[in-house]
Formats: sequence, C-alpha cells, structure tokens
Amino acid sequence: MESTKIFSEVPNIQYQEQTPEILVEEFRKVITSRRSVRVFDATPIPEAVMTDCLELALLSPNSSNLQPWEFYWTHSPEKKAKLIECCLSQPAARTAAELIVCVARTGTWKQNSRLMIERFKAQGSEVPKPAYDYYRKLVPLVYGQGPLGAWGPVKKAVVILRGLFTPTPREPASGADMRVWATKTTALAAETLMLALRAHGFDSCALEGFDSVRVKKLLELPSDAYTVMVIAAGKRAPNGVYGPRIRFESSLFIKKI
Ligand SMILES: Cc1cc2nc3c(=O)[nH]c(=O)nc-3n(C[C@H](O)[C@H](O)[C@H](O)COP(=O)(O)O)c2cc1C
Repeated sequence: MESTKIFSEVPNIQYQEQTPEILVEEFRKVITSRRSVRVFDATPIPEAVMTDCLELALLSPNSSNLQPWEFYWTHSPEKKAKLIECCLSQPAARTAAELIVCVARTGTWKQNSRLMIERFKAQGSEVPKPAYDYYRKLVPLVYGQGPLGAWGPVKKAVVILRGLFTPTPREPASGADMRVWATKTTALAAETLMLALRAHGFDSCALEGFDSVRVKKLLELPSDAYTVMVIAAGKRAPNGVYGPRIRFESSLFIKKI
C-alpha cells in the first residue's frame, strides 16, 4: 500500500483480538455513580489501586498514539501541601487522599514517535511499511511547528489552499493548536482515571481552579507542559456531594444531523 493511502485503505493485516462479555449495567453504575466529590473521608487509597487506575488511564485513546500526557502523583507530604495551596485550598484538594496533576506535553511527540518505530521494529515483519512511514514522514510534518513556530503560517497557507480543493486536516498549525491537541488526549485519560477510581469504589473531583504558574513551578515542569487539570481522589464523605446531579435537556446537546 502506498503510504499516502494510510487513511483511505484497509491494510491487509491478519490480526484479531477477542472482546470479553461486558454487563452494560455495571458500566452504567460506574458512570452514574461518579459524582464530583468535594469532601473526602480519611480512608486512604491503596497504592496498588491508585497504580491500577493510573495504568488504566494510560489505555485511553490518544492522538496518533503519541501519548502526550503525564500524570504527577504527589507522594511527598510537603509537595502535596503546596499543591493544595495552589488549588486555592479547595475542600476537594484539602481532604483528598491523593492528588494527581494531569499534564499535556506538546514537545514529547518526537521522542514518542521514535518509541513507536522502535516498537514496530521489535514486532518484526508484520508491521506494514505505511505504519513506519506514518511516524517517519507524516508525524514530523503534522506535529512539527518549526523553530519558534515558524512553520505555522506556512502550514496554514498550504492547508487553506489545499482545503479549497479537497478535505484537509487543518490543525495543528500553531503552538496554541498543539496545546489543544495534547489537551484533548490528556482530558480523555483524566476521565478514564476518574471512572477507574469509581470502579474501584473510590471517588474524585476534577479541578481546574488552581494557579497553573505555581503548579508548573512546584512540579518543575518544562515549558512545553500544560497543566490540564488536577484530580482529587479519595472515599466520599457523607457530605461529599453537594446536591443532585443537574444536566440540561439532552436535545440541547445531541443533534441528529
Ligand atoms: C475540567 C473540569 C474542571 C473542574 N474544576 C472544578 C474545580 O476547580 N472545583 C470544583 O469543585 N469542581 C470542579 N469541577 C467539577 C464540575 O463542577 C462538575 O463536574 C460539574 O458540576 C458536574 O457535576 P458532576 O461531576 O457531579 O456530574 C471541574 C470539572 C471539570 C471537568
């Protein structure tokens, strides 16, 4: 298959996975019982449970499998105390057994692209050439923004011109686009993390009410890191949920087209 056809043609691959039977009612219980919990009791989350939840989060779908996420799980009491302050001392952060900072990285795609190629090589001959080409040729073109984002305007112009004639992926074409790109993926993993906690019988609250500059400094994050949200986790206290869940009419959000 020509490498340009990677999006439009089904490759000739002999690979299959079995899917287990799933009880939808168990899934529904996880989804419906997840609430944003603002007060946790003193129950600790076993290290193995927290590790499992984080490992499950890493199974989330992610753009081009480039995994532009990082999860900072506070273990030092001093760092945790400082992080709570950064989270404006919100009760959810103050009472949480564990705090996880979900970070999107716009600069790790090069390294992770190389890791993908290494994995392909280890897999041997069954990996088709277009898969290699995707990471060797297309990924640098799509995600590379050039020194100081210099390619951005050029990319934009090319994309607009090409888009006049044929459907064309238009982003990412700037540093801001790259932040959106990495954030989408990281947010999906944050959701998986919260659902995994619920499935283990624990609770969570996503927080964006924090001082991102202070959090970045506390975690000594590099300049390409973007703090997407903090996940406060623990066992809900009796007063942990502030009220019944409110959602507006589905018809406002689900559009049949
Ligand atoms: C990205 C994001 C940021 C949030 N930030 C906060 C926050 O800083 N403090 C807080 O108490 N809740 C926060 N929440 C929780 C929302 O308020 C909550 O999800 C929403 O009210 C719906 O309630 P539910 O999660 O119980 O269904 C956040 C949720 C998300 C997804």
